[in-house]
Amino acid sequence: MPPILDVRHYTKRFDMHVLNGKRINALTNVSFSLEPGEIVGLVGKSGSGKSTLMKSIYRTYLATSGAIYYQSLRYGPIDLVRATDHQIIALRRDEITYCSQFLSVIPRVSAADVVAEGLFRRGAGRTEAWHQSRDYLDRLGLPQELWDAYPSTFSGGEQQRINVARAIIARPRLLLIDEPTASLDQRTKDVVIDMIIALKAEGTSVLCISHDLYTLDRLADRRIELKDGHIVATTSPVS
Ligand SMILES: Nc1ncnc2c1ncn2[C@@H]1O[C@H](COP(=O)(O)OP(=O)(O)OP(=O)(O)O)[C@@H](O)[C@H]1O
Ligand SMILES: [Mg+2]
Repeated sequence: MPPILDVRHYTKRFDMHVLNGKRINALTNVSFSLEPGEIVGLVGKSGSGKSTLMKSIYRTYLATSGAIYYQSLRYGPIDLVRATDHQIIALRRDEITYCSQFLSVIPRVSAADVVAEGLFRRGAGRTEAWHQSRDYLDRLGLPQELWDAYPSTFSGGEQQRINVARAIIARPRLLLIDEPTASLDQRTKDVVIDMIIALKAEGTSVLCISHDLYTLDRLADRRIELKDGHIVATTSPVS
């Protein structure tokens, strides 16, 4: 089987017009691939380019150069760098989910509805989405009195649970997840790890950014390390 994701010579430079044209080389000549059903941990110091790489795959950022081949169910092999906006919108709706480091929610939408929205987008019925969203929040240990409250006032750890639940509930083909366990207690970390492993068992491929060795050891089949925008190492976890 071909890789589900094949990043080839990807370069992303930010031109800072406000800083007299200063250039930041966020990613330089990055190449790697992700196999179907594989979980790859993306590691590296703060500022090494991890989130930029994830946002590039999700096409939040446009490439400076290079290609990102993705094996789509709908389109077959497609270069995410050159795909049309229309194609990217369809892929985000049906196949690729991105879970950012931080939660950004619409004001005055309840926690349970924010999570259920992850399923609505994939065409689930209202009742099914409602039940599943409460089941995920329950398993992630979000107190029941918060299910109908607005996440904008939640603590960091509570917001993270909403963020992760919304991404995982959609059972995407490709999951891009940035620091899913950073501000969670041990028990909730284990729940999130188990949820991601369950997705993998269904065939989901996962790119996961994490600083947390506990999470990486349990989750990642392989690690890719970035330093100053370059891949410097690819390793397997010690077994
Ligand atoms: N939109 C942007 N505009 C300008 N520079 C950016 C932008 N996004 C990222 N950068 C720069 O690119 C570099 C890589 O940032 P990135 O957010 O990818 O790091 P990271 O590895 O995710 O770090 P962290 O572990 O702190 O989240 C940094 O120097 C950052 O300032
Ligand atoms: Mg980051």
